[in-house]
Amino acid sequence: MVTIKIRENGPYLVDGEFTLVDHNGNEVPITKRALCRCGGSTIKPFCDGTHSKIGFQGANAAVEKADDGSTPSGS
Ligand code: FES
Repeated sequence: MVTIKIRENGPYLVDGEFTLVDHNGNEVPITKRALCRCGGSTIKPFCDGTHSKIGFQGANAAVEKADDGSTPSGS
């Protein structure tokens, strides 16, 4: 069984056996179990810690801000 944990304002942490493939179906060597969710990593699809440097906020925070009448980042 694979479990993917969503870190608050951070990457997806994958626990368990899995295969990672690119858009062509080619296997990508798994060098880390943390997958980038912020889009800022220099080693995509893996997390390199950039999310902390850029102040990445997860989707829940963005939705809450939108409900307050403010504009979510990236819009
Ligand atoms: S989630 Fe860590 S660098 Fe993107």
